Amino acid sequence: MKVLVTGGAGFIGSNFLYYMTDKYKDYDFVCLDDLTYAGNYNNIKELEKKDNYKFVKGNITDRDFINNLFEKEKFDWVVNFAAESHVDNSIKNPEIFLMTNIIGTQVLMDASRKYGIKRYHQISTDEVYGDLPLDRPDLLFTEETPIHTSSPYSSSKAAADLLVGAYHRTFGLPTTISRCSNNYGPYQFPEKLIPVIVSKALKDEKVPVYGKGENIRDWIHVHDHNVGVDLILHKGKVGEVYNLGGHSERTNLEVVKTILKALGKSEDLIEFVKDRPGHDLRYAIDSSKSERELGWKLSYKFEDGIQKTVEWYVENQDWIEDILSGNYKNAYKENK
Ligand SMILES: NC(=O)c1ccc[n+]([C@@H]2O[C@H](COP(=O)([O-])OP(=O)(O)OC[C@H]3O[C@@H](n4cnc5c(N)ncnc54)[C@H](O)[C@@H]3O)[C@@H](O)[C@H]2O)c1
Repeated sequence: MKVLVTGGAGFIGSNFLYYMTDKYKDYDFVCLDDLTYAGNYNNIKELEKKDNYKFVKGNITDRDFINNLFEKEKFDWVVNFAAESHVDNSIKNPEIFLMTNIIGTQVLMDASRKYGIKRYHQISTDEVYGDLPLDRPDLLFTEETPIHTSSPYSSSKAAADLLVGAYHRTFGLPTTISRCSNNYGPYQFPEKLIPVIVSKALKDEKVPVYGKGENIRDWIHVHDHNVGVDLILHKGKVGEVYNLGGHSERTNLEVVKTILKALGKSEDLIEFVKDRPGHDLRYAIDSSKSERELGWKLSYKFEDGIQKTVEWYVENQDWIEDILSGNYKNAYKENK
């Protein structure tokens, strides 16, 4: 079995590759990543020691390059993690989100059709469902919830999901989609809530919280997300969408306070800043289909997972500093 993993130098993709290369020693994994600002070769350089892994640098929107890669490697499966993933960036500059998240998906699916790929899996997000009101805790996103997006990021992910559905229905491409809630864990780029809070608090800098910090997210450890993707690849039904959620709804303020407590820092570091335009209020996922049909179960409780994650960032402050200084951009050239 040969598996193409795109976006593998990013947060979730790198964790996925560590998990999968260990678990499936008889599969071969090719990590394709263009090492954009969010891709960090340091995340994956340890993987080079493995016999069932190799790295290729390239862009998923480059059709000739992608076709040549598929021609040469003869993949069985494609798992597409590659994306522009930061909502704030999508508000400042939507275009690259449309290019990578929509056109990149199309290019990969065209190659998947042409070269007879046995499974194309699209990593999507719960953000395609829009948001839920804060005062209706009974409401959850199911796979049937209509797509109703808020940001250019979520709209580009939703457009890609619709295309995946169309390629399955129109061309018979064997596709699956997973829609996951907010991930936390090692190797998350320090532009996202949890690593930002940890890195600032460690230096006793003010930690920014949007609005009043009331927005609710459903947090899942990245390992549990990746176990879900593994199960979808091996047991999922072609043409289906699977939700993966953490059953751990927390307000942003609760998350920040939990991290400050784990670090032994004062809540005085919290600084409320102007809210993000169009900020989604609440996400909450019903993953009962994945539990029922795939036997997927969460292994992390939020309190334990966040404690371990904070410890990882404390132990790996060099990893964060390397990004903040821009040094991480040299890692690929230095290791090539
Ligand atoms: N982080 C979350 O909480 C979360 C939750 C649900 C779904 N997702 C989805 O999971 C996927 C991975 O998210 P992440 O948080 O790991 O993102 P990330 O930003 O950490 O990583 C994205 C990776 O894709 C690469 N990339 C970007 N554009 C590329 C291109 N055109 N060609 C090749 N490589 C390119 C980057 O270099 C980077 O390594 C995304 O599709 C995202 O929408 C993320």
